Amino acid sequence: MMKMFDLSGKKALVTGAAVGIGRGYAVALAKAGADVAIVDVDDKTGPTTAKEIQSYGRDALFVRCDVTKKEEVEAMVEAVAQKFGRLDIGVNNAGIGILGGDVDFSLQDWNKVIGVNLTGMYLCAQAEAKQFLKQSPVQGKIINTASMSARICNCNASYNASKGGVVEMTRMLAAEWGTYNINVNCISPSYILSPMHASTPLEVRARIRELTPLGYVQRPEDVYGPVVFLASDAANYVTGLDLLVDGGHTLNAWLTPLGRAVPPRVSPAEETVQLKHDLAAMGLPFDDNGINESLHPEIAGAFKAAFGIG
Ligand SMILES: NC(=O)c1ccc[n+]([C@@H]2O[C@H](COP(=O)([O-])OP(=O)(O)OC[C@H]3O[C@@H](n4cnc5c(N)ncnc54)[C@H](O)[C@@H]3O)[C@@H](O)[C@H]2O)c1
Repeated sequence: MMKMFDLSGKKALVTGAAVGIGRGYAVALAKAGADVAIVDVDDKTGPTTAKEIQSYGRDALFVRCDVTKKEEVEAMVEAVAQKFGRLDIGVNNAGIGILGGDVDFSLQDWNKVIGVNLTGMYLCAQAEAKQFLKQSPVQGKIINTASMSARICNCNASYNASKGGVVEMTRMLAAEWGTYNINVNCISPSYILSPMHASTPLEVRARIRELTPLGYVQRPEDVYGPVVFLASDAANYVTGLDLLVDGGHTLNAWLTPLGRAVPPRVSPAEETVQLKHDLAAMGLPFDDNGINESLHPEIAGAFKAAFGIG
């Protein structure tokens, strides 16, 4: 039965895998048996993450690639297929957010967010599908990172539109590419303590815990199971799915008091283990809570203003 979830011998690539959710996916796939290519623009941390994957006894390589550049994406997939001999799993995860109110949001910033989060994922999916079509038997798994931001209004129009776009793109590609035995699904996390949230104040974490039935802030570890499931034979008949992994946050249970009957499975200290690992790997300082305010000062500032923190 567990063989269904076994990825031994599978060849995977993960974009945006130097740190954060992408690194979490890469670790999970490797621990399930796959060889994994770490794809990122961060060529300082990316190679370290590739070495970490090798330390689990898997083959790994780092490929520097900006997912917004079609030629780089095509060359990246080719480099991965050449190194591993084939590609079975493409995890398209690289993404960015640029904060700002929509009245004054610049066209340049809009294009940047849509360029990485939506167009970049499309270019990667396309290049991966072309690779799957060259292989025998023709088949493959594509997994995109969307977000609960496709369902709730929590960031701004560029980010939320990009993620809504990822969900619909995933569904359309699933419909179109089923004919090639290619499964296309996405994972929608809630707030995950990755470097993207390294500057998010503690008060916000406390509020997230209060508004999340499972009672803790999500970690990259919480998407290990979902990514392995979607990459594995266990999900061979699953396609076009947006797998929401949010601890119940979007259940919008505001009428139900979310006080806890028992402690959550994960303590506040345990929430930050991977965040601290990532910041250390990036050579950045952080405090006991894994906070580095200068990595994303705009996020720190926006939350402080919203929460009235001095
Ligand atoms: N952290 C969250 O709360 C959260 C929640 C839901 C969805 N997401 C999504 O998950 C994905 C990963 O986010 P994260 O939190 O790990 O972010 P992160 O900022 O911690 O890491 C993102 C990684 O992507 C890389 N990257 C950025 N632009 C790139 C590009 N053009 N080409 C290649 N690599 C690029 C970065 O160098 C970095 O290593 C994103 O798509 C994000 O939108 C994040």
